[in-house]
Amino acid sequence: MENNHQTIIVTGGAGYIGSHTIIELLNKTDYNIVSIDNFSNSTHKAYDRIRSITGKNFQTFDLDLCDTNQLFEALSSVKNIIGFIHFAAYKSVPESVDKPLVYYHNNLNSLNNLLKFATENNIKHFIFSSSCSVYGNADELPVTENTPLKKAESPYAHTKQIGEDIINYVVNANPDFNAVLLRYFNPVGAHMSGKIGEFPLNRPNNLVPIITQTAVGKNTLTVFGNDYDTRDGYCIRDYIHVCDIADAHVKALNYLINKKNKNKISLFNLGTGNGVTVREAIKSFEKVAGKKLNYTLGGRRPGDVVAIYADNTLAKKELNWQIEYSLDDMMLSAWHWQKNLDAEI
Ligand code: UD1
Repeated sequence: MENNHQTIIVTGGAGYIGSHTIIELLNKTDYNIVSIDNFSNSTHKAYDRIRSITGKNFQTFDLDLCDTNQLFEALSSVKNIIGFIHFAAYKSVPESVDKPLVYYHNNLNSLNNLLKFATENNIKHFIFSSSCSVYGNADELPVTENTPLKKAESPYAHTKQIGEDIINYVVNANPDFNAVLLRYFNPVGAHMSGKIGEFPLNRPNNLVPIITQTAVGKNTLTVFGNDYDTRDGYCIRDYIHVCDIADAHVKALNYLINKKNKNKISLFNLGTGNGVTVREAIKSFEKVAGKKLNYTLGGRRPGDVVAIYADNTLAKKELNWQIEYSLDDMMLSAWHWQKNLDAEI
């Protein structure tokens, strides 16, 4: 894959958001794309699917970002790296409550290693997958990027808070280094081609894959709590289509590379701005899938915040980002993907 193009390293490129972002990058930019993944929650099939959708190729490394020697050896062999988009991380709130040290080790050491390589090699652009979980139980909704961060409700959320802090310090210490921190709300749905989507290796912990698996009889949905202080008693989240999230990454990358950033570090909320209760999400699924979902009501899940949704004004204005997909689109695309996956097996 030798050419003179500039190279973007995507970590976690076989994962859910990473794979959808590589598709956008291959379709919308000329950069060489190199993906690094250790397949802890993904498979090589994601790469085949990206190649089949885009008709384009890209280089890959199968390695663990926490393995400093292997990582540095691999990155040193790649020419003309100008930026990183760092997705690779563990991302389950409940798992992080059970295994905090695993989360701190993986999410923070991988970030440290990448920042070390980037700053030692004068690579100027860095995009980080942060999360709305950094806000904790915010006092006011919707949250803007200036909303004060409350206590993290889980080790996962804490690794994202610490990750943001680390990047802030590194940006301050390195005059040429610029970063964009993207705080995702709840990415859901699948590519509209129906050829790629979320593919959790183990039992998923997130709502939408559990809904679609329940609808095909492969899982059973328990709704965690209906006694919250919200309009119907269920938790509120800001679900956003994964392709809208992927598109924001291409825009954030161009924003940095074209020097449109006003600050060395920029923070953006990536949500639709709509707070949706778990019950409303289930209703949307039932409408677009045309089937009733059987679920049971359970107790509250440790680590869950009550309600969160975004003020996304800044991302729209600064990145020129627009939301394309509705809640029904999210559910329908997730449902198509689930049915295609089932047909494949
Ligand atoms: C959290 C983070 C989010 C991050 C995501 C990564 C917060 C506020 N958000 O999402 O930024 O991207 O992790 O995994 O911490 N639910 C059920 N039954 C289930 C599963 C989920 O009722 O079996 C409910 C949850 O209680 C919650 C909603 O569905 O109210 C969404 O949960 P989930 O999809 O797991 O995402 P978050 O934990 O909100």
